[in-house]
Amino acid sequence: MPVTVIENIGLLATPVGRTARSSKEQRDIQLRQNAWLAFENGVITAIGEGRTPAADAHIDACGKLVTPGLVDPHTHLVFGGWRQHELAMKLKGVTYLEILAAGGGILSTVNKTRAASMEELADKAEKELEKMLRLGVTTCECKSGYGLATEEEMKMLHAVQLLRERQPVELVSTFMAAHALPVEYSADREGYIRLIIDEMLPRVAEEHLAEFCDVFCETGVFTPDECRRILLAAQQLGLAAKCHSDEIDPIGGTEMAGSIGAVSCEHLIRCQQSGIEAMKSGGTVACLLPATSFYLGATFAPARQMIDAGVPVAFGSDFNPGSCPCRNLPLAMNIGCYRYRMTPEECLTAVTLNAAAAIHRADRLGTLEVGKQADILIWDAPDLEYVFYRFGDSLADTVIKNGAVV
Ligand code: NIG
Ligand code: FE
Repeated sequence: MPVTVIENIGLLATPVGRTARSSKEQRDIQLRQNAWLAFENGVITAIGEGRTPAADAHIDACGKLVTPGLVDPHTHLVFGGWRQHELAMKLKGVTYLEILAAGGGILSTVNKTRAASMEELADKAEKELEKMLRLGVTTCECKSGYGLATEEEMKMLHAVQLLRERQPVELVSTFMAAHALPVEYSADREGYIRLIIDEMLPRVAEEHLAEFCDVFCETGVFTPDECRRILLAAQQLGLAAKCHSDEIDPIGGTEMAGSIGAVSCEHLIRCQQSGIEAMKSGGTVACLLPATSFYLGATFAPARQMIDAGVPVAFGSDFNPGSCPCRNLPLAMNIGCYRYRMTPEECLTAVTLNAAAAIHRADRLGTLEVGKQADILIWDAPDLEYVFYRFGDSLADTVIKNGAVV
């Protein structure tokens, strides 16, 4: 197998390990100056400083910063249409939950998603993925949840399967039929929950369409008890649990999710001390979505308290047509740095190793170490601070996915 070496790396910055990092360890990253990195067959085989070893192919990093490829652990990538008309309502002060209760919001995207074919959904998502890759994102989680009917949810998950064959970003599927109550079931909540548990989840598991199950635990959406029932059923079928909780109201979703050992909780804007403790004891990653707080005009999650309490913090883009129509994970990362007052080192871990842990990929992705997959990002930046200082620009220079320049 040909060996490729990336030479002339000005600064190689990476977290270390195969599990999520918190407390002081979240900022404890490895820095190597004047470094090189070799890979073979898509796997990192050696890293060093100083003189570059012999290799079959060379990539000149031109003295720039090199980090792991970015991992986006939370997106709603597949959907029909957009919702730009909601912006005017938002600016007048109509809230996210008011728009949803009036049949807009997620439910309007459900109509457009149902009207699209699987190929149309995949085509639209593929264009976004291409741009995400250009921003340095090499792995992306994608949730269903705009179908809200068995075949429609399957269609969304099949679109993700199709995209796996078509482009290089590694896609991780999450089943999220508990994203909203569909209008057909507005008078029969129990009927919809039974449909998820008795019909959809067994199909998803049998056809291996998703590794994770997520739920939207929120006022006017699903209660912690309803979410628990759905997530326990998912766990029994081998899907790991995730939970959108404390995005708008702290109604106990995080406490519930921690108690059942959920892999991650999402949003956590209004997370309380009891939620932080539940995540700590559940081994749960806090998946924060800084660009969503920014776009909703909401407050920001108590990230520092989480890190201090030993809960690993990851960042996702939350790319979706409603609460965050922005696919730019590096921008979300910069907002996270400024508004959570997290250090560049902590933020780097949040979009690499901890993000990988939130989607069960930390054994293979999220760091630059011998034995890990060669998912590598060369930045148009001399050091890590520069990346966090120059917000709003795309600083990704060269993206390498599984050993190939893409
Ligand atoms: O993570 N909060 C729930 N789900 C998405 C928003 C979906 C939408 O508005 O279409 C989120 O913010
Ligand atoms: Fe989300």
